[in-house]
Amino acid sequence: MKPAIGLTGGIGSGKSTVAAILAGLGATIVDTDEIARGLTGAGGAAMERVAAEFGAAYVGADGALDRAAMRALAFKDPAARARLEAILHPAIRAAADAALAQAQGPYAIAMVPLLYETRGYLDRVARVLLVDCPEAVQVRRTAARSGLAAEEVRAIMAAQWPRWRRLQMADDVVWNGADAAALEPQCARLHAFYARIGS
Ligand SMILES: Nc1ncnc2c1ncn2[C@@H]1O[C@H](COP(=O)(O)OP(=O)(O)OP(=O)(O)O)[C@@H](O)[C@H]1O
Ligand SMILES: [Mg+2]
Repeated sequence: MKPAIGLTGGIGSGKSTVAAILAGLGATIVDTDEIARGLTGAGGAAMERVAAEFGAAYVGADGALDRAAMRALAFKDPAARARLEAILHPAIRAAADAALAQAQGPYAIAMVPLLYETRGYLDRVARVLLVDCPEAVQVRRTAARSGLAAEEVRAIMAAQWPRWRRLQMADDVVWNGADAAALEPQCARLHAFYARIGS
């Protein structure tokens, strides 16, 4: 099987931007966030189990997960988050495995925002590509895009691995502390490298 490259990075570090550039160069991107949204969307494959586990109060009129209700529950009851993850994580991994197995091209990218924090991905990928930028830049970009306050972004970051630990573990790093144009040559170099090890 062709190698899967895990793409990760802290919130707002530039993962989606890097993935889009690599996709433009011909890489197949398997996005676990997108898979998760599909599983919990209207008619999603996980919704029957979610409804059985949590009840109809967590399912919207359209049959999709009521994210606001689930967020509120998970906030006051951490065990509920674990119960949801017990349903979703194996389903996400199975769907990602299937998509990676079908991927065209010499290598495929598994985009997993919490790759280091979530069990079961590190052993599936040949290398880890980390998108990195200073924390202040993460906060600024995320706040600008999402409308979250800086403190809210920092609270999310505090629940993720610290930057130094990701840097210590990564095989390859894209530096995204400069402008977006600086990503292009870095992505081109990595794409050539991954294509070589994949063929
Ligand atoms: N080098 C850059 N210069 C300026 N803006 C950038 C740069 N890289 C990314 N951005 C912007 O910062 C925001 C976050 O980038 P992106 O969505 O790629 O990060 P992400 O890691 O996928 O975020 P998330 O964790 O929320 O999925 C976006 O609005 C993006 O357009
Ligand atoms: Mg993203």
